[in-house]
Amino acid sequence: MSNSQIIDRFGRPHTYLRISLTDRCNLRCFYCMPEDGIDLMEKPSIMTLEEIISITKTFKELGVNTVRLTGGEPLIRKNFEYLIRSLADLGVTLKLTTNAILLDRYLDLFEEVGLKRINISLDTLDKARSVFITKRDYYDQIMTNIQEAVSRGFSIKLNVVLIKGVNDAEINDFIALTKNQKLDIKFIEFMPFKGNKWDWSKGVSQEEILKTVRSKFGKVEPIDNPKHSTSVNFKVAHHQGTFGIVSTITNPFCADCNRIRLTADGKMKNCLFANSETDLLTPFRSGEELKPLILQTIQQKKYSRDGMDLKMDADQYENNRSMTSIGG
Ligand code: GTP
Ligand code: 5AD
Ligand code: SF4
Repeated sequence: MSNSQIIDRFGRPHTYLRISLTDRCNLRCFYCMPEDGIDLMEKPSIMTLEEIISITKTFKELGVNTVRLTGGEPLIRKNFEYLIRSLADLGVTLKLTTNAILLDRYLDLFEEVGLKRINISLDTLDKARSVFITKRDYYDQIMTNIQEAVSRGFSIKLNVVLIKGVNDAEINDFIALTKNQKLDIKFIEFMPFKGNKWDWSKGVSQEEILKTVRSKFGKVEPIDNPKHSTSVNFKVAHHQGTFGIVSTITNPFCADCNRIRLTADGKMKNCLFANSETDLLTPFRSGEELKPLILQTIQQKKYSRDGMDLKMDADQYENNRSMTSIGG
């Protein structure tokens, strides 16, 4: 049983906080970063490390037990090691989502503080395609770092955002990786955010993904979805690893949502797709007590996708942030 006090109007306790450490990134994935870039946050508007630690402590006191660090790219945040050590001292379960370019620098630290679950964005196993998608050439470094993390026993999940005509032909190559390695592949339905030129005709649905996997590997077994899971999960018989599908578009999984987001500039978002945000940083800086504000904000949470229906309304997602400043 959760002892979270952050309970919304639908009785859902919120125990999982995703903190974006920065809106900056060392890659430029076209589905995430708008073509013209974004207006980067000014330094004074970004939470300092001490502010992040203190605000996280408040969330912990309200019952949050899991914190996932995201970006942009979280590992480019200055003094990241100090932050990790301080957050670990708060006694929350720490997780990370990264592009793995800088991962080798931090594996010792992660081992030491017990950060075991690392999700890595990897949309292709082909070097030229990686350069096309990310507009940068870090493929070799990324692959070396993933191998090192896997061989050191970290629990690694590869995030693959599927885009038709770009990487959908690689679905079964990713599944093949799970044959002899304890890897988890997450295929992600392409989602709409400000400036990412979303068009569902470019997306690949849960149904299409399963059909492709079955065409090559035959029987696919559903496995238990952990509570609050944002993916439907499967396994190919006799494979060591598993795969899942983040089916936000065709099969949303919001009923059991336990997630809150905090942007790098200190705004609380009730949902990935929320247009409305609550500024926590300004009141924090003026010494106000944040707990009532957090508890009040969660009361505005909508049941699913911030109220967006299956048509995914452009007026809504164009008024959201770009993904690079939400952190997923
Ligand atoms: P876990 O903590 O292991 O469940 O990680 P995760 O898969 O939620 O996190 P990650 O940062 O790796 O995100 C993978 C994909 O899931 C990204 O495309 C995220 O945008 C998406 N995602 C994460 N949380 C949510 C959510 O609450 N709702 C929706 N719709 N998608 C989410
Ligand atoms: N749709 C789905 N997933 C996305 N991500 C970034 N942009 C999108 C999008 N438009 C994924 C990244 C990263 C995770 C945090 O979010 O690939 O792994
Ligand atoms: Fe929760 Fe919003 Fe994600 Fe649904 S779309 S699971 S409500 S954060």
